[in-house]
Amino acid sequence: MDKGSPKAILLKDYAAPAWWIETVDLSFDLRDGGTLVTSRLGVRRNLDVVRAPLVLDGQELELVSVTVGDRPLGPDDYAITPDHLTIPDLPGDQVAIEIVTRIHPEKNTALEGLYKSSGNYCTQCEAEGFRKITYFQDRPDVMAKYRVRVEGDRAAYPVLLSNGNLVDQGDAGDGRHWALWEDPWPKPCYLFALVAGNLVHIEDRFRTRSGRDVTLRIYVEPGNEDKCAHAMESLIKSMKWDEDVYGLEYDLDIFNIVAVGDFNMGAMENKSLNVFNTKYILARPDTATDTDFLGIEAVVAHEYFHNWTGNRVTCRDWFQLSLKEGLTVFRDQQFSADMNSAPVKRIQDVTRLRQVQFAEDAGPTAHPVRPDSYIEINNFYTPTVYEKGAEVLRMYHTLLGAAGYRRGIDLYFARHDGQAVTTDDFLAAMRDANPDAGVDWEQFRRWYAQAGTPGVSGEGSYDPATHTYRLTLRQFLAPTPGQPVKLPMLIPVSLGLVGPDGKDQALTLAGEDSATAGTRVLALNAAEQSFTFTEVPAPPVPSLFRGFSAPIKLSFDYSDADLTFLMANDSDPFNRWEAGQTLASRLLLGLVADRAAGRDMAVPKGFIDAMGATLSRASEDPAFASLALTLPSENYLGQLMEVIDVDGIHAARNLVRAAIGRTHRDALLAAYRANAEQGEFSVSPDAIGRRALKNAALAYLLAADDADGKALALAQYRTATGMTDVITALALIADSDMPERADALATFAAKWKDEALVMDKWFMIQATSSRPDTLANVTALLSHPGFNIRNPNKVYSLVGGFTGNAVAFHAADGSGYEFLADRVIELNKLNPQVASRMAKSFARWRKYDGERQAAAKVALERVAHTPDLSRDVYEIIARSLE
Ligand code: PHE
Ligand code: ZN
Repeated sequence: MDKGSPKAILLKDYAAPAWWIETVDLSFDLRDGGTLVTSRLGVRRNLDVVRAPLVLDGQELELVSVTVGDRPLGPDDYAITPDHLTIPDLPGDQVAIEIVTRIHPEKNTALEGLYKSSGNYCTQCEAEGFRKITYFQDRPDVMAKYRVRVEGDRAAYPVLLSNGNLVDQGDAGDGRHWALWEDPWPKPCYLFALVAGNLVHIEDRFRTRSGRDVTLRIYVEPGNEDKCAHAMESLIKSMKWDEDVYGLEYDLDIFNIVAVGDFNMGAMENKSLNVFNTKYILARPDTATDTDFLGIEAVVAHEYFHNWTGNRVTCRDWFQLSLKEGLTVFRDQQFSADMNSAPVKRIQDVTRLRQVQFAEDAGPTAHPVRPDSYIEINNFYTPTVYEKGAEVLRMYHTLLGAAGYRRGIDLYFARHDGQAVTTDDFLAAMRDANPDAGVDWEQFRRWYAQAGTPGVSGEGSYDPATHTYRLTLRQFLAPTPGQPVKLPMLIPVSLGLVGPDGKDQALTLAGEDSATAGTRVLALNAAEQSFTFTEVPAPPVPSLFRGFSAPIKLSFDYSDADLTFLMANDSDPFNRWEAGQTLASRLLLGLVADRAAGRDMAVPKGFIDAMGATLSRASEDPAFASLALTLPSENYLGQLMEVIDVDGIHAARNLVRAAIGRTHRDALLAAYRANAEQGEFSVSPDAIGRRALKNAALAYLLAADDADGKALALAQYRTATGMTDVITALALIADSDMPERADALATFAAKWKDEALVMDKWFMIQATSSRPDTLANVTALLSHPGFNIRNPNKVYSLVGGFTGNAVAFHAADGSGYEFLADRVIELNKLNPQVASRMAKSFARWRKYDGERQAAAKVALERVAHTPDLSRDVYEIIARSLE
């Protein structure tokens, strides 16, 4: 932060490029000690804008030569800075340019551009990594056709891949070989990919509905072939689902996936050559948990779906990132809901939205779904752009219905296939395809423009004389950084009125003909609004925001009895779960207040009974029950407090968990036994649900320090064959004082030391333990032979696990903050993206008490004064300190 602050890029400054690049002919000469990249560009003047020089982006490149037409340029013919190569005075409107650069992938620790992972070459270009490979207009609205020649040592890199079709290959002499790839589809450079390595693959086939046979391959390091089957099945299901639900078909004869161990993100949708973090490909029942299996299904689908939503239609500029990400997340959520249990998927997605996106929206890094400024675009791959963006798509779907939504999607592709467009273009397609929808689209647009989570409050009253029910709702949106004034949003309220018999009543608004019973969607579009329902025979309990129909925070004047009633009766499963969560939050925050005031914390019997009722119905839907039995997380409870009482929340939550474990001991043991593994291992939704319920029961027994529970945990750890059961048991043991703790951790590490992804879990469970020695353990683990700070997955497990551990990270003495500052400073030099992701854990420091704030500020300022701070970390720290 010392030498002048980096400059912000603004949406309002967008201008089309002065030159288009239409063709790219790349040649890679891969060699240790320096890779030569030859790029031949076909450029054409953009006659729609004023004449200007050709300005190419480039970073950390050694320029070898530039040729325009057949004229080699001398140093006086161009201008070069650390970020750009500018070629003035190009002759004519259509020019061929050749640029030769040298790069050093073997020294690339940022994992952006061309780099090496376990000795194999791979690329990551989104968002702006292509400029680290060659000089180019590195912006998504410049779309070109690519031909790529890759040459390398045959023994070290037997596999040579790039986008599109393999058109030729041959021997290059000297033990070297080459391959030539051609991608017929024009694309932005962020979708370019190259892989060269010693890899093996599994292969399958998919016939598209129009009869195209597509070869599907998944490439992994030798030894991992037996962990690819689930990813391949997921790919085939995704291809079929996209045809069935969106009418979208794959557009090439080959689709390749490569899994690499060193990857900053989850995966990347490069055209026909997806590159994945191994975490989202490799799975075998003994190495991967149910969460891993579901994550693989979702991410494989997500990247595949990008082929249309992202690749065929891409973003005009990076402010439009949610155009592809919000839409593609919504698509993968729909897909996973169809493949598994829709209510369970929705509960999991909302839990995550609240945990990470609501927190972001309430802090110093809050930004709109379509941001209007950034310093480093890599910082904007956020829960807001992804998860809140997906909620915006879900609201189109809710407002227009499935058929209207599909009409909008069809029009979007009809208009924009092959183009780089904006979220406004998307909205216009939805609008124009549904002229009679009665939606105020200008108001709807505010979901893209206004940051922050709207609050909705309200109350209802029933008039027995007229049989009318009047529901009043108010909305409120607090200021966020840079947005002091907010306007009312268009909020879809999906609701039902539940009668005393537990059945949905008719929803007839005053002046309407009688409606049928069930759910309907109302539009809340003013600061305050009342809805009067007629012909309501008896006083109802309203079920609001069914399925979580808008990303808002609801506070409605429900009594505890209303919530218990909804938990038992609501026809909407999401709201049955939600009622339990609201009740639990209310109770837990009451206990936190008691503790803070020096009063005894007394757990209300009514709540414990309600949990008992949930448990007694658990066999009807074990997966749902496991979620209904889970208390709101410490993190989420913290968000509900003015000043977060870390220790109070932890104590209250543990007290209630122990009370549930003690009171319902027998029922929990019975649920454990009833759902123990039977028959062959499977990741069917049913089998996953039963494991989840069994392990939730086990966790409650350990929360109550139950001797039988501990014995079951040990037995499960020692004998289970599936990783879900093994790691859950080990996590419970690791979080306890059981004498077997050290031995259990050691045997696990000895068994799995060569499986990086399994070791990630081992680091994670130690980092998330609430034992008092956690920071000491985590610090010691930094020197464990299985840990490597250059590997993002390791950092996310150990450092990220620790920062998610509220009691340990927010220790009152500031030791957690000091630890994180050290790691951010260390990572800043190696991998700015990973450093910045870790630095985000500081962002909400002002929500804690004075002592913690003071300690956090010291740590933040220490990072701020680090020499050579990356733009990535600078932006997060500067925002946090504002
Ligand atoms: N575009 C990727 C996805 O969401 C994410 C990603 C972004 C990966 C930037 C790498 C770098 O599917
Ligand atoms: Zn994506």
